[in-house]
Amino acid sequence: MKGMTSVSDTAGKPPVSLVLGIETSCDETAAAVVKDGRKTISSVVSSQIKLHEDFGGVVPEIASRSHLESVIYVVKKALLEAGLDDTGSGVDAVAVTNGPGLIGALLVGLSTAKALAMAWGKPFIAVNHLEGHLYAALLENEDFAMPAIVELVSGGHTLIIFMETLGKYHIIGSTVDDAAGEAFDKVARFLGLGYPGGPAIERIAALGDESAVGFPQPMLNQGLNLSFSGLKTAVVNFYKQNPDFSIPDIAASFQRCAVNVLVSKAAAAVKETGAKSICLAGGVAANSLLRAETEAAAKTLGVSCYLPSRAMCTDNAAMIAAAGFHRLQADGESSLAVGAAANLRL
Ligand code: KG4
Ligand code: ZN
Repeated sequence: MKGMTSVSDTAGKPPVSLVLGIETSCDETAAAVVKDGRKTISSVVSSQIKLHEDFGGVVPEIASRSHLESVIYVVKKALLEAGLDDTGSGVDAVAVTNGPGLIGALLVGLSTAKALAMAWGKPFIAVNHLEGHLYAALLENEDFAMPAIVELVSGGHTLIIFMETLGKYHIIGSTVDDAAGEAFDKVARFLGLGYPGGPAIERIAALGDESAVGFPQPMLNQGLNLSFSGLKTAVVNFYKQNPDFSIPDIAASFQRCAVNVLVSKAAAAVKETGAKSICLAGGVAANSLLRAETEAAAKTLGVSCYLPSRAMCTDNAAMIAAAGFHRLQADGESSLAVGAAANLRL
């Protein structure tokens, strides 16, 4: 394996490779140590939610400043929890998100990772945040049936990916407007439910009737692309016209429509490609209704279903370390001249 050294954890056991991952693309400062790209040894996530909640969304400059204040502490904690010290002696490589994300936020993690890799004399690996999300489910499942359909649903992206093998992806569907998480966030903000919107909608929807309002399910039977902007606007218009309507009922009806669209697209993708499994990734994959309905659809289709734990759905650094390990195997280390790319594509 190019650029990778091996260490043994205890005598007689096979060699292992420990990758330190760092993630600062949005509003979570995270660091993790992962063994062999498969086993999470430690994973520390420091959330900035409290700092941004009064603004109803992530404020880029506040995010960057907060990453700067906490990144060293978070990295040290991840090393300590993995039984390592900050001399880097037990670490084999340093992986970091270099995009997509908020440019100032990305720069903090990227500079930290480059400095550590240089100081420790270890390989440096730049990782695409979206590829990181794809590895979240892999971290928790030893045998992953491929090819797989991965539905990547986050605050910034909604992609249907045909994953042929590790590292070989084809984007076969994507949103034509808002990302799924963005729709949850915007609807929640409009209904006064706070930030982040996804968990807030899920909580209040549990108290409502999902059949109360028949919102549209955009592009339901039109190929593999998705659209959430029309659904969001329908909710906004409905609430403006019916300001006394039950908010739990509106939230539940919105969530039902969004989930129906996501599940039907994943199922259509399986039928179209003959994939052997469905996997969810990204923050919206933490949604209980989406998880239950995806599992049910996979069962009906006779394919496997992989759902990352909720902590692995939202941003974390274990997924970045895992993706970094596999990137290193496939392509070798990255140049220290790699920059941050706000709009990096998969
Ligand atoms: O993957 P992620 O942590 O960050 C990005 O890369 O965007 O995803 C964050 C998104 C937010 O839009 C948030 O509202 C949404 O995931 N989300 C949820 C839930 N938990 C987080 N959406 C629906 N239901 C949830 N339980
Ligand atoms: Zn993410």
